This record gives sequence, structure tokens and C-alpha cells, in this order.
Amino acid sequence: MKITVLNGSPKGMISVTMQYVHYIQKEYPEHEFNIINISQRIKKIESDESAFQEILNEVKFSDGVLWAFPVYFFLVPANYKRFIELIFERNAESVFADKYTACLTTSIHFFDHTAHNYIHAICDDLNMRSVESFSADMGDLRKAAERERLHLFAGNFFDAIENRAPTPKSYIPVARRDFDYLPGEAGDSVNAGGKKVVVVTDSQEYQVNLVRMVEKFQASFSGEIEVINLHALDIKGSCLGCIQCAYDNQCVYQGKDDYIDFYNTKLKTADILIFAGTIQDRYLSSRWKMFFDRSFFNGHAPSLIGKQIGFIISGALSQIPNLRQVLEAYVEIQHANLVGIVTDEYGDSAQIDSLLQNLARTLVQFADSGYVKTPTFLGVGGRKLFRDEIWGRLRFPFRADYLTYKKLGLFDFPQKNYKMRIQSAIMSLLLKSPAFRKEVNKKMKDEMIKPLQKIIES
Ligand SMILES: Cc1cc2nc3c(=O)[nH]c(=O)nc-3n(C[C@H](O)[C@H](O)[C@H](O)COP(=O)(O)O)c2cc1C
Repeated sequence: MKITVLNGSPKGMISVTMQYVHYIQKEYPEHEFNIINISQRIKKIESDESAFQEILNEVKFSDGVLWAFPVYFFLVPANYKRFIELIFERNAESVFADKYTACLTTSIHFFDHTAHNYIHAICDDLNMRSVESFSADMGDLRKAAERERLHLFAGNFFDAIENRAPTPKSYIPVARRDFDYLPGEAGDSVNAGGKKVVVVTDSQEYQVNLVRMVEKFQASFSGEIEVINLHALDIKGSCLGCIQCAYDNQCVYQGKDDYIDFYNTKLKTADILIFAGTIQDRYLSSRWKMFFDRSFFNGHAPSLIGKQIGFIISGALSQIPNLRQVLEAYVEIQHANLVGIVTDEYGDSAQIDSLLQNLARTLVQFADSGYVKTPTFLGVGGRKLFRDEIWGRLRFPFRADYLTYKKLGLFDFPQKNYKMRIQSAIMSLLLKSPAFRKEVNKKMKDEMIKPLQKIIES
């Protein structure tokens, strides 16, 4: 069988993910694999129609397509996202339709599930036949049990193709509504009171609703607020995955384009940030993805701590819960506060006006009070995963992260809590006594709330 591998790593063939593909190649020599470097060659693929057509031809004459990529910021790398956009923009969906497909990623399992959900939904949108998805930790190939798992994954994929196995769809198409947002009269203006407000948008003239929503939001304030368009910035390219920033947060693009200065002088100094974009396929644009990927020069450390963040989004966000989760998780991982998300999807201009006005008011109110809501599982789980990785196997090469985590007290391992450990050891010993267990069971509920009651009383 002929398998087309769409390589999403910007590192091309010097990629961790591609070693997993090579392993499959070696295990199944009876099949032919054609690996195409998508992310690394995106500029050529985008500018040279024949390069794009060549890829389509490969896909057309293959029995299966393997989406193989590293997880980047909850999703696929920005250049890979651009390739997906090109498929839709250039009406090439039919080439992918009915092709058997699977997805293989490497990562450290930080929001690998949202990346898989995304690509799976894209495959459903392309009417492909999704068989399997495999999320390898970047070091898994060293372990015999994991190699066996990878072998079985690939075997199952090939079996499904050979047997023309039926495949279910998991995502229904996103229904887009035609709606022109018409902002009404200005409401009460909000005084930012010295707080620095920065709106970052990627709006283009033809994205009328987004343009108007940003203008309306801007007009909610009595004073000037800054609006920065990502298209107006000179951003030379997306993250190369070179990890040269790991030592001291110095990116290889430093001094070569606008991005790092923009991030350091505009975003890090703001009190209130609004990110505005239009949904393209099942995420924001690849330009926005580039913004997030390039922020990797900050490593795994939060760089927007305590900021009040809002999103203004044009598109059917409520139909893409995966995207909502990505946005929520992003803010939580930044130790920032997600104040609200306003979309235009309900088709009611007056309602959008009042939501934008309220967003402006609440952002300022929370910036004044310093309110940052508690993280949910997204933030709590994500932080623990990063904490363990930065303390452990990623300490080298991520030295800058290690120092920042130390400074911010993020190495909050439970084994450092000696009082709790001694208490637990004593109680665990005592629990061996049936009489003590009986007593504990009797008092459990009361004892759980006792310390909380004491606080309330005091
Ligand atoms: C910009 C950037 C963003 C990343 N984002 C994530 C992420 O969200 N989740 C994760 O588990 N790993 C993330 N990683 C780690 C990569 O997924 C991992 O190192 C992968 O194995 C690299 O594969 P490659 O060598 O094929 O490019 C990120 C790495 C980079 C450079």
C-alpha cells in the first residue's frame, strides 16, 4: 500500500515525530511511505501552485494519509495549520475525501488531546475515513512496550485500509450563519483608570464583523486604547522548533523581526489584553497560531501572570468546544484571568453591543481588584505536568524555565510538605486498628469541615 505522510514538524526530517514514522516504515517494509515536509516548506507550498498540486497528487494516488506532527500549543504547528487552510481555500477537499487516515503525534502529552480532536475534526470536515490516532510521548520509542504499541497502531491502520473498514464520524460540520453585525449607539463609556489596555487582532478588511466588534470595543472606553494588528507586524516566520531559546529565552529571530519586542513591550506590560480573531476551520487563523507558537521563546513559564484577558471572536465558537477549551487552558496556564469571550454567533447586534460593553467594564473592574479566578483542571493539571517536566527531564535544556520556576515557587511538590507527610504517616499507621477506623468513619464528615468552620468563625 502507498501511504502519504504529511510531516508537520518545522524541523523537516530532523524531527522526533519522523523517527516514529521511520520505525513504522521499518516494521512494515511491504508498504511504501512517501513523507512530505509540509511545515518546513510552507512558504513554497503557499506561493508555488505546482508544489501544492504535487502534494495533492501524492494524496490522490495513495491508499492512506498519515497526519504526523508535533503538538504545538494545544494544536498543530502554525505552518501545518496554514496548509490545512490552503486545502479549503483552494477547494481541494475532494482529493482527501474517502481516504483512510490516521494521526500520529509526539509531544509531552500537554493538551495532546485537543490537537488530536482538532485534526480528527478536520479529517471529518474533509470527509476522510479516520481510523486511529496515536499520541506518543517524545521519548516513547526508547521503550519496548511503546514500540509494540506503535507497531499495533500502524498494523490496525493498514488493516482498516485493506478491509475497507467502516469508520464513524465524530464531528458534525460547523454551521455558519450569515449575519452582519451592526453596532448601535455608544453606551456609557468605561474609564480604564490608568490601566494599560491592548487589543491584538488579526482582522482583515473583509472580516467585517470582527473589524466592527473591535471598533465597538475600542469605543467603549473613554480614553485611547491600543489596537495592534498581527498582519501589520513584521513576523518573519513561525517557530522553528530549534529550542535555542531554552537556555536564556533568546529566540533565533531576535532582532530580525517585530515579534519579540512586540511581545515584551506591548503584551508583558499590559494590564488588560484582548485577543480578537475570526474562526478559520476549527481554530483561529494560522496567523494567530504563529503568534502562539512564537511565544515559545518564553519556554514553559507563564509570561502573562495576573493579566485580565478577554477574547472577541467572529464565528461559531459554541459549535467548537475544543477551541473554547484551548483558549481557556491557554489563559489558565498563563496564570491569567479569562474575563469573557464575546462572539457574533447569535446574530443579535444589540446583544453583542452590550456584551462588548460589559466585557470592557468587567476587565477594568477585575484589573482594579486584582481578581484572578482559580484554575480548573486545565490549569491545575497542566501546571503539574510542566512542573514535573521542568524539574525532571526537561531541566536540560530548558535552563531558563528551571530558574523561573524556582523564582516563582512553581516547584510545589507535595513531598516538600513535611507536616502533611508526618501526619499522614501517623494516621495511616493508626488506621490499621479497627477501633480507630470505626472512630474515623464516625467522625469523617465532621472532621472534614472543622478547619473550614474555624476559619468562618474567626
Ligand atoms: C513551539 C512549541 C510548542 C510546543 N507545544 C507543545 C504542547 O502544546 N504540548 C506538548 O505536549 N508538547 C509541546 N511541544 C513539544 C513538542 O511537541 C515535542 O518536542 C515534539 O516531540 C517535537 O517533535 P518534532 O521533533 O517532530 O518537531 C512544543 C514544542 C514547541 C517547539
